[in-house]
Amino acid sequence: MSDKPKKILVLSSGGDSPGMNAAIRAVVRSAHYYDIEIVGSHMGYRGLIEKTIFPLKQEFVSNSIQRGGTILKTDRCPEFKGKTVRDQCREYLNSEGIDGMVVLGGNGSFAGATVLQEEGGPRALGIPCTIDNDIVGTDYCIGFDTACNTALEAIDRIRDTALSLERNFLIEVMGRASGFIAVAVGIAGGADIILTPEFPVGIESLVKKIKYNRKKRMASIIVVAEADKPGSSVQLASEIEEAIGVKYRVCILGHTQRGGTPTVKDRKVGSLMGIKAVQALMAGESKKMIAMLKDEYVLTSFPDINNAVRFFDDEELLKLNSIICEF
Ligand code: ADP
Ligand code: F6P
Repeated sequence: MSDKPKKILVLSSGGDSPGMNAAIRAVVRSAHYYDIEIVGSHMGYRGLIEKTIFPLKQEFVSNSIQRGGTILKTDRCPEFKGKTVRDQCREYLNSEGIDGMVVLGGNGSFAGATVLQEEGGPRALGIPCTIDNDIVGTDYCIGFDTACNTALEAIDRIRDTALSLERNFLIEVMGRASGFIAVAVGIAGGADIILTPEFPVGIESLVKKIKYNRKKRMASIIVVAEADKPGSSVQLASEIEEAIGVKYRVCILGHTQRGGTPTVKDRKVGSLMGIKAVQALMAGESKKMIAMLKDEYVLTSFPDINNAVRFFDDEELLKLNSIICEF
C-alpha cells in the first residue's frame, strides 16, 4: 500500500478511560505486525512539547490489557491550543519522521489532532475514549461501559443503606455536559428520579415528584448528572430540604468512576478500534475516527471543533423509567 505510513505516533490525551490500554496495545501490536515503526508520546500532547517521544517495543504493552488508566499517561495540556507551541511540536514530529498519528481521547483531543494536521502535521486517526460517551459521530466511546458498571455497583451499595434506614440519597455521577452515564445507571440502578442536563427539571416539579413518590415509599434514590458543575448536587439537596423539609444525603461518585479494570466490552472495543486505526492510516485515511454506529465499526470524520459534544436526546427513556420506578 503506497499510503502506508513509515512511522506512527500513538498518544492518549484528556481524561483517562478504562480500555485505553487495550487500544494502545492493539495499535502497537498492529504496527509491529505490519512492519511500521511505532513510537509513543508520554502524557499526550505534553510529550510533543517536552520532546519525550519514545519507541514502543512489543513488551511495553505486555500485561496491560486488564489495567485501567493509560500506560502512556495522559494530560490536559492547554499550551497545545497555542499556535506557536503547535508549530514547535510539528517541527519536532517532522524531524522524527512521523507521518501518522493515532490519538486516543475525547472531543478536545480530536480538536488538537485536527488543527495539527491542518497546519501540516502528520495524518491523524482517532479512537474515541471517554467515560462521558459524548463524542459526536459515534454511538460508543471506550470507557463508558466500565464507568457505568462502577457507578452501578456504588448505587447498589447505597441502596442497601437507603432501604434499611429509609433514607434518601442524591447520587451524582460524571458525564460533563451530557447525561449518558446518569441515564444508563439510573435505569439499571432503579433510581426513582434521573436528572440530566439535557432535560432539566425545575425545583418545583422535582419536589412535587418527590412528595408523590413518598406516599408510596420513604426511601429514595435520585441519580443526578454533574451537568458540567461537579458538586452541584449539594446545593440541590439543600434546595429540596428547604422546600419540603426532606433530607437527602449526597454521594458524589467523582473519579471513582474513571479508573478500574475495564469490562469485556471496553477491552474488546478498544482492541478492535486499535487495529482498525492502524489499518485506516495504511489505507490513506486521515482526520477521521474509528466510530461505532449501530454496533458496526465505521470511519467517521472528526467532530466539528465547534460542535463536538453529543447530548442525550432520548426523553422517552426517562418517561419509561418513571413508569417502572413507581410502586
Ligand atoms: P478530551 O479529549 O477528553 O475532550 P480535553 O478537552 O481536556 O479532553 O482536551 C485534551 C487536550 O486536547 C487539551 O488539553 C489540549 O491539549 C488539546 N486540545 C483541546 N482543544 C483544543 C483545540 N481547540 N486546539 C488544540 N488543542 C486542543
Ligand atoms: O471527561 C471525563 C471526565 O471524567 C468528566 O466526566 C469529568 O467532568 C471530567 O473528566 C473531570 O476532569 P478532571 O479529571 O480533569 O477533573
